[in-house]
Amino acid sequence: MAETTNTIKHVASPLARQTLLDGDLVRPVAGVRPIRLLPWLQVVKIGGRAIMDRGAEAILPIVEELRKVLPEHRLLILTGAGIRARHLYGVGLDLGLPVGSLAPLAASEAGQNGHILASLLAPEGVSYVEHPTIAGQLAIHLAAARAVVGSAFPPYHHHEFPGSRIPQHRADTGAFLLADALGAAGLTIVEDVDGVYTADPNGPDAAKAQLLRETSAAELASQEGTLPFDRALPDVMANARHLERVQIVNGLVPGRLTAALRGEHVGTIVHTGLRPL
Ligand SMILES: Nc1ncnc2c1ncn2[C@@H]1O[C@H](COP(=O)(O)OP(=O)(O)OP(=O)(O)O)[C@@H](O)[C@H]1O
Ligand SMILES: [Mg+2]
Repeated sequence: MAETTNTIKHVASPLARQTLLDGDLVRPVAGVRPIRLLPWLQVVKIGGRAIMDRGAEAILPIVEELRKVLPEHRLLILTGAGIRARHLYGVGLDLGLPVGSLAPLAASEAGQNGHILASLLAPEGVSYVEHPTIAGQLAIHLAAARAVVGSAFPPYHHHEFPGSRIPQHRADTGAFLLADALGAAGLTIVEDVDGVYTADPNGPDAAKAQLLRETSAAELASQEGTLPFDRALPDVMANARHLERVQIVNGLVPGRLTAALRGEHVGTIVHTGLRPL
């Protein structure tokens, strides 16, 4: 009896004695690379505005392409929020809602797009799953089906950082955080432009905009102006644990997504900050 009590009281932990803020002490324990949970997984983020808001004209060819690649890949398909979230931000900001109230509402719009996509892929056994299922049961779902669909928004919800009135961590950041945490084989972001340009190719400086075939998160973090993904994404990519690169492709051009999933360079490759540990 006494011995049991002792063992319980003296639970051995290499982190028991020090503050978790001391990098030198924590590094030997926490500084190793985490395991890859799903090393064969391909994550695909489908743009809410770029693809879903365009309706059948853009969605059906992408659905067809996804359907055809299923025998080759096991996919986690994540959808962005698109125009309905922008409307929601407008109304919410007008009413003075804090960012922590707007983030879950915008996330639910991303989820709606996911439900639409999953319905179209249902004949292939694909369903929409919620975040807790992605967190704990993705492996079993992908053992039963070649792909599942989820919302790309990260679950910061009421905990969204208060720096901006519009959630900083949206669909692109959420897709990256998930793909990297799962140790996925790759992340492809599907847009309506050929990749990342030096300026918005649909904006006032379109004439000067040049396509960047290859760039890095660090370069994009320091590049002024707009990007075809969340401003927070390059910062999050700087701390990647598994993903070495992300590819941005034009989903309106048939075959680009398929080629990207096969490892071909058909859009902009953005290198993360991944360093050998
Ligand atoms: N530097 C840039 N390079 C390429 N496209 C850019 C750039 N800056 C802005 N854009 C614009 O970003 C647009 C894509 O918009 P956005 O990323 O908001 O859509 P989305 O990814 O579908 O949205 P969601 O986050 O709802 O999924 C492109 O059509 C393009 O006009
Ligand atoms: Mg985008």
